[in-house]
Amino acid sequence: MRQLYIAGNWKMNLVPSQAAKYASELAAAAKDAKVKVMIAPTYVCLPAVVEAVKGSNIIVAAQNVNDHEKGAYTGEISCDMLKDIGVKTVILGHSERRQYYGETNEFINKKVLFALQNGMDIDLCVGETLEEREGGRLEQVLADQINIGLDGVTEEQMAHVTIAYEPVWAIGTGKTATPADANSAHEYIRGLIAKKFGKAVAEKQIIQYGGSVKPSNVKELMACEHIDGALVGGASLTLEQFLPIINC
Ligand code: PGA
Repeated sequence: MRQLYIAGNWKMNLVPSQAAKYASELAAAAKDAKVKVMIAPTYVCLPAVVEAVKGSNIIVAAQNVNDHEKGAYTGEISCDMLKDIGVKTVILGHSERRQYYGETNEFINKKVLFALQNGMDIDLCVGETLEEREGGRLEQVLADQINIGLDGVTEEQMAHVTIAYEPVWAIGTGKTATPADANSAHEYIRGLIAKKFGKAVAEKQIIQYGGSVKPSNVKELMACEHIDGALVGGASLTLEQFLPIINC
């Protein structure tokens, strides 16, 4: 049985004072949650949020990390910096980073390997655009994102990898993949993991769904066999919306 894993990607929202206040309210409200809970604030909010959720079960993650140890990489943040403030989880390959900042599967793979080698847990995002889906390229796109993104990762390291399937056309648009469509993409991804890492790894693999998840649709999505949680954007920004998702 895979434990549900609900994550909130705050993207570029909330200033540190708002983030800390919300995080402490969330930590109190979600203290009896049956699911694993993660929140990913912006870098500048991380120290305040780590402090705000101290002693709770909430995992605090970064939204990105650099693929080098340290050095002349202006504007970047390293794994060591994150770990030093108590953050050991990172979202990688989000479609907004792929779309707006040109991140390729090969580049994402470098970060995946570096983060895992440095003892981080990662949440690797994959998913197709509408054009790719309508052009019949769904499977090829997912296969490339998984096979290249996880190239060189060991079976043991897969225990530190969560996958988030986020169809790009469903992110922030109010459109959700039907539970059946989402489940079949998840099943396909699980098959890719089985081929690459073996059946035992695939059976344990947590695959979150992301894309306009909200209190009104979370239950039927989570009821699907291959959906093991959610990566929530917009609806993770308020307690009114995120708490019912956590309590799904
Ligand atoms: P959304 O974003 O829930 O606002 O659609 C999901 C995500 O991008 O992680």
